[in-house]
Amino acid sequence: MTQEVIKIRGGQTLSGTVHNHGAKNSAVAIIPATLLAEDKVTVEGLPQISDVDTLVSLLGDLNIHTHLDGTTLDVDPTEIENAPLPNNKVQSLRASYYMMGAMLGRFKKCVIGLPGGCPLGPRPIDQHIKGFKALGAVVDESSETSMKIEADQLVGANIFLDMVSVGATINIMLAAVRAKGQTVIENAAKEPEVVDVAAFLSSLGANIKDAGTSTIKITGVEHLHGSRHQVIPDRIEAGTYMCIAAACAEEMTIDHIIPKHVEPLTVKLKELGVDVDMHEDSVTIRRQLPYDSVNIKTLVYPGFATDLQQPITPLLFLSEGISLVTDTIYPARFKHVEELQNMGADISADQGTATIKPSTLHGASVYASDLRAGACLIVAALLAEGVTTIYNVKHIYRGYTQIVETLKRLGADIWTEEV
Ligand code: EPU
Repeated sequence: MTQEVIKIRGGQTLSGTVHNHGAKNSAVAIIPATLLAEDKVTVEGLPQISDVDTLVSLLGDLNIHTHLDGTTLDVDPTEIENAPLPNNKVQSLRASYYMMGAMLGRFKKCVIGLPGGCPLGPRPIDQHIKGFKALGAVVDESSETSMKIEADQLVGANIFLDMVSVGATINIMLAAVRAKGQTVIENAAKEPEVVDVAAFLSSLGANIKDAGTSTIKITGVEHLHGSRHQVIPDRIEAGTYMCIAAACAEEMTIDHIIPKHVEPLTVKLKELGVDVDMHEDSVTIRRQLPYDSVNIKTLVYPGFATDLQQPITPLLFLSEGISLVTDTIYPARFKHVEELQNMGADISADQGTATIKPSTLHGASVYASDLRAGACLIVAALLAEGVTTIYNVKHIYRGYTQIVETLKRLGADIWTEEV
């Protein structure tokens, strides 16, 4: 069987402008959320990634008519039918779990395969289930491949999350918008994507207050109508290109960003010594070597995003001292470390912390174990001497719109091959 690989000959100096796309982690919740509407919905500014294609296809399995034209999705849910959702598609991405909350809100019942996604260590969904149960659902987890969730009636409840979870916060919102009475989610996630999904649901007529704080209040409504919504810019895609720019760019501008959303990264880049020029909705970055060492600890928003600890790591090889990266959200999210070692990097990981020393990288054959590990390997390959071959690139295409073409346009020596 053949597979596509990405090849990069490192050492080129990049320059130019990158257009940042809509946020993947908003899009993957908003697409399932469209099935709550009783009339036509248009979602604009979607990223062109395989996770979007898979979710649109899942809507089709419910007899929802869709038309995806580039970054715009038209959804007509007027002939929606409840159907069990197939395992293979559901398992190809994590965010398929949002079909649970949305279908529960719409039909009070769903049968769905268990979610897949990036292998970042244990990724339980116990808080999602706890929320559904609190709203009155019965959850049958007896099958090893699928789950049945059913409620006679959804009734608003007070739900205190044991840990801050983006997925659980959004999934509970999706079900609660159609519950009877008020739901209060305490210890809710404050990520911008949670706020964007709440804004979308509100545009359908939902009653949601205080999204973006740790206490979200939702008063259920009987009907949700159609709407048009623009997805917010992707802070992680923008952040990845900011790291690429700091590694390799004479000067690179990333546009269509919300500066506040990338601030935790901007602060770290400045601490490293990167030349960062922030504008109203874009940022210009110039490489300015050598860098200082920094320590990074990932935290929930507005802390440093776990999704950016892998892409920023190659920059730390350009530092003069030792840097530490600790992931408190996913302490096992360090599968990129072994691949970087294969490229000659002096890096080790133990108990949720990577220790990174100044290193010169060389090309190698490496494996993208997950989406952001793939992004990390791209940054590393752009810095390395010689050719790097990245395998398992399907993960990269799940989250980055036309990344190969974009980097080529910026001056990278990058191409794909079937092997
Ligand atoms: N957790 C539980 N139980 C739950 C839910 C979460 O123990 O029921 C734990 C997780 O294992 C983790 C922590 O709580 O240790 C936070 O997980 P969260 O639920 O916030 O993660 P998620 O919603 O599954 C989203 C993004 C991830 C991102 C995390 C953290 C989507 C589809 N995924 O995942 O994005 O890393 O939030 O910000 O929105 C990525 O884009 O590469 C990616 C993995």
